[in-house]
Amino acid sequence: MWISDRLKNIKPSGVRRIFDLARQMKDPINLSIGEPDFDIPEPLKEEGIEWIRRGFNKYTPTQGIPELREKIAEHLRKKGVLFEEVMVTAGVTGGLLLASLALINPGDEVLIPDPFFVMYEYQVLLMGGTPVFIDTYPDFRLREEEIRKRITEKTKLMIINSPNNPTGAIYPLEDLKRVVEIARERNLLLFSDDIYDNFVYDHLTCPTVGQLYEKTLTFGGFSKGWAMTGWRLGYVAGPREIIQQMITLQQYTFSSVNSFAQKAAIKALDFNVDSYIQGYQRKRDLIYEGLREKFNVQKPQGAFYIFPEVPGGDGEAFVEKAIQNNLFIVPGSVFSKRNTHVRISFAASEETLLRGIEVLNRIG
Ligand SMILES: Cc1ncc(COP(=O)(O)O)c(C=O)c1O
Repeated sequence: MWISDRLKNIKPSGVRRIFDLARQMKDPINLSIGEPDFDIPEPLKEEGIEWIRRGFNKYTPTQGIPELREKIAEHLRKKGVLFEEVMVTAGVTGGLLLASLALINPGDEVLIPDPFFVMYEYQVLLMGGTPVFIDTYPDFRLREEEIRKRITEKTKLMIINSPNNPTGAIYPLEDLKRVVEIARERNLLLFSDDIYDNFVYDHLTCPTVGQLYEKTLTFGGFSKGWAMTGWRLGYVAGPREIIQQMITLQQYTFSSVNSFAQKAAIKALDFNVDSYIQGYQRKRDLIYEGLREKFNVQKPQGAFYIFPEVPGGDGEAFVEKAIQNNLFIVPGSVFSKRNTHVRISFAASEETLLRGIEVLNRIG
């Protein structure tokens, strides 16, 4: 009776039973985690601590401190991203919430390539919007016909996430060009969630729609690339008209974001994490090579997830079996309208990965 109507479309996860089972596991081989297994690099921790000691602990400007906004702008310009304004947010999560509040009306349709990061679906639902899923199976590519057949008069925007959680895919430039062509034709906004942009393997570069289309909101952050998940820091860049509204919203919701983390983030943008990424590429190779014989699997090009199809085609049943064998992974149905795959995070030690691979092959 007290709960708002807004929440009526938000249902508890259908796989809660699996997470309940997982909670009872003692010392599992845990390949479910969505954050790096390294800590914030020491010099960045020191920078944060130094600013705390110096008393930089008060509210900061709503849109973020000017020196960080300038640094982010420089970083995005180097990447060739088009934008007019930048703001600092409480992680990409905070940025997505502000953008959703600013842009999605009840009844608006939002295109989301499936598989997808869970938060997108729920943020759209929370606004009274309708998530509309675009099938990208089996190779996790964006296909023009799949997009076109889902567009209606109510379509307002599309969310792109590359490198992708949960698939590890990087959409090739030709796919993004096609998306932009459709967006121009239908006057759609694009959201580009670039949070994994540090995690790119095989010397590839990761193209992003923000480089191609000015009506893009580009989201980025410090949670993954510099392991600052708990410091809650991210940013959004895009058209001034939208960012300004989001700054007003930030004033009335978050007020401002973490003070010392903003100072450390300035340093982070100059802190090279290549050695960490090389380590992650080795983990990627280990898990891909370990699974490819028994599983139908795409080689991840970025992020730190691999998303194989399971033998028998029932992801949830497969995860239950994994849990019985002390391995915790996440059913694909958490990230998709299909239940044929599982998400395995390789943000873990090589030893843990090897133990996980052994179980996966045994039960596969
Ligand atoms: C695709 C994607 N976007 C955003 C986030 C959340 O990022 P943040 O910690 O910056 O809120 C995650 C975290 O798992 C993610 O996988």
